Amino acid sequence: MRKFITFEGVDGSGKSTQAKLLADYLSRSGNKVFLTREPGEGRLGELIRTEILDRKDISIDPYAELCLFCADRAQHVRELILPKLRDGYTVICDRYYDSTLAYQGSGREIDPDLVHRMATASSLGVEPDITFFLSIPVPQALLRLEGRQKEKNRMDEESSEFHRRVDEGYRHLIGKKIPRIKVIEATVSPGEIHMEIRGFFGEL
Ligand code: TYD
Repeated sequence: MRKFITFEGVDGSGKSTQAKLLADYLSRSGNKVFLTREPGEGRLGELIRTEILDRKDISIDPYAELCLFCADRAQHVRELILPKLRDGYTVICDRYYDSTLAYQGSGREIDPDLVHRMATASSLGVEPDITFFLSIPVPQALLRLEGRQKEKNRMDEESSEFHRRVDEGYRHLIGKKIPRIKVIEATVSPGEIHMEIRGFFGEL
């Protein structure tokens, strides 16, 4: 059984819905499941989330943004992810270090080697066992974002060019054929996507 599962994709790809559906499914099958997300869990995480994403009245330098996401992750891994894994939970995380590679490396165009080093360091060596990348064309994802009721955060408000670069960053990563990353076609219905994801867990 895979114990540390992450979900990735551009904003509007539907990964939060899928993370929740998988968490419900694995819990129903008798697993102890901890569903979490980045950024924003734990007390430091909440503070960082408020500062990075929700506030629009301060301008944040891309390097400062990179450090904040990495600070969030290091604390998240130390405070929540590692203890839960040690307690025998299956941990499902909505975004993890691949988001930093795609958003800060490709989206913000920061030196990819530096971003890679920081993203890896911030994970304290805790690598996902499996990562689901929800694949959807950027214009379709942006249309979904438009249709959402929730208030837009700093990232949601970035240009479509920014989101296109983020997608390019993800595609570059996928091109490396890293075995843990599974590309899931996300233009179909949430139920169909969920069934495809379930297929990776066999009979539970
Ligand atoms: P959130 O509202 O949680 O969006 P979503 O539901 O799409 O995950 O906001 C998270 C945003 O933060 C999202 O736009 C991606 C961005 N992000 C980064 O830029 N770098 C990172 O390392 C992480 C974890 C997230």
